[in-house]
Amino acid sequence: AEPSELRRVEDFRRVAERTLSGAAWGYYSNGDGDNQTLRDNCESFKRYRVLPRVLRDVSTIDTSVTVLGSTLDFPVAISPTAHHKMAHPDGEKATARAAASANTGMALSLFANHSLEEVAEAAPQGTRWFNFVLFKDPKRNRELLDRAAKAGYKAVFLTVDQPRFEYLKQITTSKGKDKTHMFYSTPNLVFPGTPPYGTEEYRSHLYSALKQPMTWDDVDWVKKNTSLPVVLKGILTAEDAQEAVRHGADAVLVSNHGGRQLDGVPATIDVLADIVRAVGGEAEVYLDGGVRTGTDVLKALALGARCVFIGRPALWGLACNGEKGLLQLLNVLKEELVYTMARTGCAKIADINPTLVVHENYYMS
Ligand code: FNR
Repeated sequence: AEPSELRRVEDFRRVAERTLSGAAWGYYSNGDGDNQTLRDNCESFKRYRVLPRVLRDVSTIDTSVTVLGSTLDFPVAISPTAHHKMAHPDGEKATARAAASANTGMALSLFANHSLEEVAEAAPQGTRWFNFVLFKDPKRNRELLDRAAKAGYKAVFLTVDQPRFEYLKQITTSKGKDKTHMFYSTPNLVFPGTPPYGTEEYRSHLYSALKQPMTWDDVDWVKKNTSLPVVLKGILTAEDAQEAVRHGADAVLVSNHGGRQLDGVPATIDVLADIVRAVGGEAEVYLDGGVRTGTDVLKALALGARCVFIGRPALWGLACNGEKGLLQLLNVLKEELVYTMARTGCAKIADINPTLVVHENYYMS
């Protein structure tokens, strides 16, 4: 695609759909069940309306924020997603470089196609966080947490909404229907004794090596075994958010895993305000799921998120020309946010507040 064709995130989605193999597109796009939650994540954003304020001085607009002490140029970072080589041969290295060029952050999936050290070397200046789930063997967990800290990752994003790894049952190096490889190797999961990638033994080894399910005790364990801040990714209720704070979480990422874990759970934007209230400033609160425009970003921030994250859109950016494509996509979101802030009277992120947004039902009651 010509870069000039790519003006909105939706354009990247369309081009990615026509560029990627059917297998890759299917893996990236899928949700659980009937995809109700997957659709709702996007559609729910559109059910909120923006109430602009006029006659404010918006001659300069500052979109910068801090996330656990790291400054980002704008409040849109990259959620951890597995297997970036399915989108582009440079895989997570391209993602890391694009995020660093845009001065935003990237959470690296444990299921990445490059080792966490390779990704760090690809963009040493970038803000990166390490996405983690536990193995049964505490030695492995300690080793990975230590490696992440040593390689300059600034926080651990513990995925808490995946009590079972059904996903692993799909791992195969055999070719998909359209003769393209489905999955590439995942070096962060390799330890002495791990069977060769893609074999039946590998699959069952990994399936039994991971801790399924993790519990709150594991959150305590991670807090004790790393000096990095810990973010719980996959919180959807006020009760669990408060539990997260009690267990020392430094942040919660409100997420339904992009509709991939349990169909029928709410859209993230609909539960955000309750969670922000429940957390009461004791931890930072972020959101992912369905963020596709700068206006979506403003809505999430107005409802209390400190930063939002994108999952699939980052993959679409990669599919459209790797590092360059993703950088362009991030710039699209940044420019749209600037545009939206100007038209709502916000010169800086702190100006974005709850009075800027109402749910559409407000006008019907
Ligand atoms: C994911 N997600 C995910 N989450 C996580 O914690 N660890 C992971 O390894 C993955 N892998 C993954 C692969 C693919 C292909 C997708 C689409 C998603 C979930 C991801 O971090 C995020 O929560 C959602 O993608 C956010 O929703 P949107 O932005 O895709 O709508």
